[in-house]
Amino acid sequence: MKSIQSKDLNLNNKKILIRLDLNVPLNGTAIIDTSRIDKVIPTLQYLLKSKAKIIILSHIGRPKGKFVNELSLKPVCDELEKKLNQKISLINHSIKKIKIESFFCEKKNIAMLENLRFFKEEENDDMIFAKNLANLGDIYVNEAFSCSHRKHASVHSITKFLPSYSGLQLESEVNSLSKITSNIKRPITCIIGGSKISTKITVIKNLIDKFDNIVFVGGMANNILKFKKYEIGNSVYEKNAEVIVSEIFNISEKKNCKIFFPLDVSTGKNVDEKPTTKKLPEISNDDMILDIGPETIKMIKNIINNSNTILWNGPAGYFENPEFSKGSKEIAEQIVKRKKENKIYCVSGGGDTVAVLNYFGLVKDFDFVSTAGGAFLEFLEGKELPGIKALNS
Ligand code: 3PG
Repeated sequence: MKSIQSKDLNLNNKKILIRLDLNVPLNGTAIIDTSRIDKVIPTLQYLLKSKAKIIILSHIGRPKGKFVNELSLKPVCDELEKKLNQKISLINHSIKKIKIESFFCEKKNIAMLENLRFFKEEENDDMIFAKNLANLGDIYVNEAFSCSHRKHASVHSITKFLPSYSGLQLESEVNSLSKITSNIKRPITCIIGGSKISTKITVIKNLIDKFDNIVFVGGMANNILKFKKYEIGNSVYEKNAEVIVSEIFNISEKKNCKIFFPLDVSTGKNVDEKPTTKKLPEISNDDMILDIGPETIKMIKNIINNSNTILWNGPAGYFENPEFSKGSKEIAEQIVKRKKENKIYCVSGGGDTVAVLNYFGLVKDFDFVSTAGGAFLEFLEGKELPGIKALNS
């Protein structure tokens, strides 16, 4: 990987296409957590100081190739303008028609393309789309470690058309995670939650022999409960996942990895309700499981106390409503307590997990916090991520 800080790289007056992961949690147009924006500010400042012109590429959410007003990058663009103290043009034309020079002037050195996932070609890793993107700049920079597990045009194929470099944050994530995975101390517990079930469930199978315990919470746990024939009502879950869940149990038995899932849950009829604690057989068909219950919290604290390393990805509940943030809060606090006693090494990853830790003011108490969720898990799997491989070839 060649770094943007390479001595032989002259950035002066060059147009830099930089892929960022500005996929921040939103509530309407309000940004719930700005961590992913904050982390790339030093890189953008470095480029500005080097007198480069910046063209930001990013996605937000999963609009699946269609324009979705709620998934515009406008709120993110406004936040970046404030943080960098300069105007940024948000460009929403068809990529082929963009006259990029017209967006720059002496006081305006940054432009940003609208959500790339409004175009289906982005996720299809389409060569022509990648070439059209590449035509806008002179140099490509991948500063989106958390998207590097995606073989998408702005992460992967674009590197075929431009000299390509790694950003400062991407380098720091790769270096830190490499160090962690080579010095890891057992027993290792991985806590997996969140709602991106389809992304994570296939990865878990390959992680089993690396861990001593896997604890399922949040949306991830619903598939386990469904597999165990419990009613999960209107809770989120991944369809047709029975085979993979059954494989997870079979492999974990052979590899001596213990699987844990909720013993009780906190439910509501919708996400805005007050919580009701229920034992698993009490869940009714109009309930939504929105957090783990007190028995489960107790069980997880005990597992944390008996581990030397904790890797945590994905909240335990719908933390956006504080009524359902108790599970995530108690897990975070117990990890931090053990860390302060020097009993564990703890790493967390993922946009929502970082948001949870920020919400409780606990980010700084972890040994390492990665911005990446799916990419974090695939990295732990030992895979070379397509976006990183593309920078190396
Ligand atoms: C993430 O939040 O992990 C990245 O932005 C990737 O998003 P995705 O899972 O929708 O590809």
